[in-house]
Amino acid sequence: MGSTAEAKTKERKSSMTFEKTSVIGAGTMGNGIAQILAVSGRHVQLVDVSRPALEKAVAKIGKSLAKFVEKGKITDEERGAALERIETSGDLEAARGSGLVVEAVVESLPTKLGIFAQLAEVVAPDAILASNTSSISITELSRHTENSERVVGMHFMNPVPVMKLVEVVRGLNTSDEAVRAVVETAEALGKVPVVVNDYPGFVSNRVLMPMINEAIYCLMEGVADAEGIDTVMKLGMAHPMGPLALADLIGLDVCLSILQVLHEGFGDPKYRACPLLKNMVAAGKLGRKSGEGFYPY
Ligand SMILES: NC(=O)c1ccc[n+]([C@@H]2O[C@H](COP(=O)([O-])OP(=O)(O)OC[C@H]3O[C@@H](n4cnc5c(N)ncnc54)[C@H](O)[C@@H]3O)[C@@H](O)[C@H]2O)c1
Repeated sequence: MGSTAEAKTKERKSSMTFEKTSVIGAGTMGNGIAQILAVSGRHVQLVDVSRPALEKAVAKIGKSLAKFVEKGKITDEERGAALERIETSGDLEAARGSGLVVEAVVESLPTKLGIFAQLAEVVAPDAILASNTSSISITELSRHTENSERVVGMHFMNPVPVMKLVEVVRGLNTSDEAVRAVVETAEALGKVPVVVNDYPGFVSNRVLMPMINEAIYCLMEGVADAEGIDTVMKLGMAHPMGPLALADLIGLDVCLSILQVLHEGFGDPKYRACPLLKNMVAAGKLGRKSGEGFYPY
């Protein structure tokens, strides 16, 4: 390789390491994503419209990092340095200069579309715009975004600092370069990326959500109580967690949104959300984050 080509490759490689990153949305997923980006040495602008959400996120990251220190996974110095790399803001403008932006706001197409369109005006034309969406079409999300080929799914699992998988979603317009950038970043974060194509629910939630929904039907019909249903799945199927406890961890509102995307996307009644799930969301019983779901917290 000639020296110019080598220099170009080097430049490309270093530009792909994304020293400046942004995470939009500081909820359950956003704070975990910000945490692992910061631990890996990257600067993170954590953006959320809600000030309390940002404060909660910083406190949660602090607690989680302290646990990693306790377990000997990082040093106290690394904990402090990671915290210093995270800045919070209420304004998307803070994403300016980021090479990689990971969007993790509520699972709502109009909200996400608005954010992607705004982001395209704030960051450089070649910055990678990744979404942590659980189910919304990446192709659809890129619709109003200039240079839609850089829009890609980067679907982390909950809890982000612990779970190994990142489902990398290739939209119809997503470039190979954007897929590669996200795959390499996921690997640099110590995760295992799996590239999948853009269909409702991708692989993870297309398989998981019908199981959770069926468990909720079992509860609604009185087949067994929540603990009974979860115990069957834990001891009988060797699942580390029962489906109802998992739904509480994910957030019942998030589960409902995903089921609605599957139902609408495939037009198949097998994905219709259980009425009990709808009721629980309407009652504000959203799982762990609200203090009550199928279990009290
Ligand atoms: N919860 C899970 O287990 C899980 C797993 C994988 C992927 N996801 C996906 O991650 C995304 C976030 O989910 P979550 O569970 O973290 O949700 P959450 O409700 O915990 O947090 C969402 C955050 O987005 C913020 N927000 C809303 N509108 C905004 C805007 N316009 N600009 C900036 N911030 C805004 C809210 O204030 C909130 O803090 C969703 O797309 C969801 O489908 C969730």
